Amino acid sequence: MKTVTARAHTNIALIKYWGKKDPDLILPYTSSVSLTLADFYTDTTVSFDPTLKADQFHLDGIAKPAGKVSQFLDLVRHRADIPTYARIESHNHVPTAAGLASSAAAFAALALAGSRAAGLDLSPSALSRLARRGSGSASRSIFGDLAIWHRGHDDASSVAEALPPTTLPLRMLVVMVDTSRKAIGSRALMANTVATSPYYPAWVTTNENAVQAMVEALAANDFAQVGHLTEQSSMQMHATILAADPAFTYWQPETLTAWAIVKQLRAQGIPAYATMDAGPNVKILTLSPYVEQIKAALAPTFGERLLTTGPGPAARVLTEVPNA
Ligand code: DP6
Repeated sequence: MKTVTARAHTNIALIKYWGKKDPDLILPYTSSVSLTLADFYTDTTVSFDPTLKADQFHLDGIAKPAGKVSQFLDLVRHRADIPTYARIESHNHVPTAAGLASSAAAFAALALAGSRAAGLDLSPSALSRLARRGSGSASRSIFGDLAIWHRGHDDASSVAEALPPTTLPLRMLVVMVDTSRKAIGSRALMANTVATSPYYPAWVTTNENAVQAMVEALAANDFAQVGHLTEQSSMQMHATILAADPAFTYWQPETLTAWAIVKQLRAQGIPAYATMDAGPNVKILTLSPYVEQIKAALAPTFGERLLTTGPGPAARVLTEVPNA
């Protein structure tokens, strides 16, 4: 057995995942496309120890209930055929309260560190399938830059892979609208959207077509189309959520303010496109030459509540040490 530390980066979906066909295996209704980000990541250390009576989990130095982490490690234990409990330490490297601490980075790092620590040597594809069982979006964080998660139809076929690199100098600005409150958990809301939103079937058809269109737009380096599809997928996801029963939105007044600024910038010929996830913060997809102009337009309203990042690397092992 070894003590393994792995790093995985957050990803933001350009074409969203929203809704599970199989909640146990986490098989989604639609495929999705994402950009892995350079500046936001999770480091996780796993060490299996035969003297432990239960898994022990620390997040940013604080002991936490191991529940979901343990359930996930059960998959690893089953696969490695070991009964041993583990010590798990995770650190989120996200600028304070950016609202970007993500289950994607967390489960991708845990899949890599946990499987290696248990003596398994999984391929990126097998790691992606494993990470998916912790959180759907984690399947994409195994890969750097652009990734596609194919919805598939069973455990083996629902897997992410890297998309060919683009020459577009992609950048993402994060507008921190509200960092004071915890985002409402997406899992229950996702299930309720599937169950009650009359727009959900339309979302599935539209979003699946958007995945194909996005792959083509990226291959053609057509940023106007990449941005357009990104903004559409996000808005359509939020529309299905708003139409669910009970109706709900993650948006806050400043979410709309940021989106309005993005649209104004576009009217001036600046390629900027907004995407929102399970929270009120707005991420703006653009190209590197436009970052300063976009920051200048946002600064009067959002001041220092802005972060800029770009494409980040694949999940990787940082250290691997044999246990004493
Ligand atoms: C809005 O991957 O966090 O960020 O599979 O239930 O853990 P679970 O959900 P999660 O959902 C991500 C939703 C999203 C869109 C996306 O990342 O594709």
